[in-house]
Amino acid sequence: MKHLLSIESLSAAEILEILTLARELKASRGRESSRPLTGECWGLLFSKSSTRTRVSFEVGIRELGGDSLFLSSSEIQLGRGEPIEDTARVLGRMIHGAVIRTFKQSDVETFARLSGIPTINALTDEEHPCQILADLLTIEELRGSLDGVEVAFIGDADCNMGRSWIWASARLGFGLRLACPDLYRPPSELMERANAPVSITNDPEEAARGADILYTDVWVSMGKEQEAEHRAAQFARYQINDRVVAAASPNAQVLHCLPAYRGKEITAEVFEAHANAIFQQAENRLHVQKAIMMLLKS
Ligand code: CP
Ligand code: NVA
Repeated sequence: MKHLLSIESLSAAEILEILTLARELKASRGRESSRPLTGECWGLLFSKSSTRTRVSFEVGIRELGGDSLFLSSSEIQLGRGEPIEDTARVLGRMIHGAVIRTFKQSDVETFARLSGIPTINALTDEEHPCQILADLLTIEELRGSLDGVEVAFIGDADCNMGRSWIWASARLGFGLRLACPDLYRPPSELMERANAPVSITNDPEEAARGADILYTDVWVSMGKEQEAEHRAAQFARYQINDRVVAAASPNAQVLHCLPAYRGKEITAEVFEAHANAIFQQAENRLHVQKAIMMLLKS
């Protein structure tokens, strides 16, 4: 594995390898015997806001013995129109790895191709692979295994999280139910390409029925702020609330990639009732980022 650009581009074996190493790193945190990023400097190129992804990578790089540079696109020439192709060829000669949060998936792929250094997708409009890997680790921890899990994703099924869930289902074969308005269905071309065991409905309770994991994400993803009002009307029914939880399996867990907007995609009550699992999920970002970087180096 040279880069981590999407769940689509990973095999099942690669996903499981990342999860296994992340589990080991979590168990041995603070007692590591090796520092595989010693002497390296990794760059974080971010064109969108971040709390979890930024901090988990910066702390993870430090724990692995390396240094990091946070490069906000608004402060480097990329933000003034310097092409990603040139940015990649400059940074590839100076830093040892890149973690990129941006809009276009093609920009992350172009950077990976032209920089020659390990490149990680830290969220694009199309995928958020690092988040999904942390989610899978959390589900394993909560249930003991991913075998037979049924996941219901309620909200914008065509956003980066919805799409990464579809690819995770395609690769690992678990059941995924999407509940979304018609306007926010993933394109049929993507569904055909993924060929995953996925169902789509307009009814959140139908999607939740018997599900083990209820998952949601913001109604308004970064970059879509001008659509906020339209989306609020479209998604009003697509909330994880007591009714949706009651439809799910009796021990169902609610997960959220965060940040969460209470009263929108999730009620405050449901959020707090499942806060332990949700913040375990957030913590797992750190362990997974470390595993990804170690595997890209090996
Ligand atoms: N879930 C997630 O990626 O959070 P941040 O936007 O805070 O990085
Ligand atoms: N779909 C969200 C995920 C945030 C982690 C967004 O892109 O803003």
